[in-house]
Amino acid sequence: PFLNKLAQDNGKLWFGTAADIPGTAEQTDTQYLKILTNNKYFGEMTPANMMKFMYTEPEQNVFNFTGGDYFLDLAEKNGLRVRCHNLVWNSQLSDWVTSRNWTAPELTAVMKNHIYNLVGHFGGRCYSWDVVNEALAGDGSFSSSIWYDTIGSEYFFLAYQFAQEAVEQTGADIKLYYNDYGIESPGVKTTAAYNLVKELQSRKIKIDGVGLESHFEVGGTPSVAAQVAAKQGYIALGVDVVVTELDVRFVQAPFYTAAGEATQAQNYYDSVASCMKVGPGCIGVTVWDFVDKYSWVPSSFPGQGGATIYNDTFQRKPAFYAIGEAL
Ligand code: XIL
Repeated sequence: PFLNKLAQDNGKLWFGTAADIPGTAEQTDTQYLKILTNNKYFGEMTPANMMKFMYTEPEQNVFNFTGGDYFLDLAEKNGLRVRCHNLVWNSQLSDWVTSRNWTAPELTAVMKNHIYNLVGHFGGRCYSWDVVNEALAGDGSFSSSIWYDTIGSEYFFLAYQFAQEAVEQTGADIKLYYNDYGIESPGVKTTAAYNLVKELQSRKIKIDGVGLESHFEVGGTPSVAAQVAAKQGYIALGVDVVVTELDVRFVQAPFYTAAGEATQAQNYYDSVASCMKVGPGCIGVTVWDFVDKYSWVPSSFPGQGGATIYNDTFQRKPAFYAIGEAL
């Protein structure tokens, strides 16, 4: 099954993937690239790292767009759209940001300059930007971060205000998103995400969509009904929803048993089906890479793995076919 073609034909949505390119083995892996760049499989790609702060502004006000431009060139050559990721996050920051005691006005200026430069440089080549990434803690409060701890909760609204100004400067139609995990089913954190959207709207600040990361564990994903309900909640506010980083990891080996892969396939099916079920407001499903050997899981969660839809030798797993069924 051609997953993106099915997604477009049957759901008017995209099926996409993250890719960690350039500067990695993937960049020259012909088997990998053949699948990635086939628009029938993927209609969207998200840079797993190359647009993050530490890569794009390694020294203060010294910008490096090489990686991001390479990524966009690759996507455009093959007809894939790009969700640009991300502008303001607490992780993968440059040392010059984290190693100083900033005043609130100083750090606000840093944030503004970063947002203006990235949005300005990449412009309309980005379908959307994840403006703030992972701002919320499990209890629905703002997480501790250099941004929050220095500027306070206003950092969040300022980030979107600066992004909106920067988008207006480009003259392009660039969507602005909030992206987080743990907001894929009803609960306190999901309610907090609704409230962030509402607060932006009441301040007349641009917010176009919410990204539901959907990093799940095999056998532990929310039900289809729960995923549908959460998505409908965002859509009712008038914003789009994207499943932005879907993967379903085994928390311990073995990763390749028939029973385990069957459960994983059902888990992938449920997330994709929830997007299909809510109708036009769910506009895409993106997996966080598609082959186990390039998944972020083993390095970020030691001992865990098997999270994607192709095994290490590019064999399709049951999850691949289950997605085809869901679409
Ligand atoms: C991950 C990348 O895939 C890794 O290569 C990197 O080492 C850490 O970040 N949530 C996000 C993504 O929004 O940016 C993260 O990407 C995965 C979790």
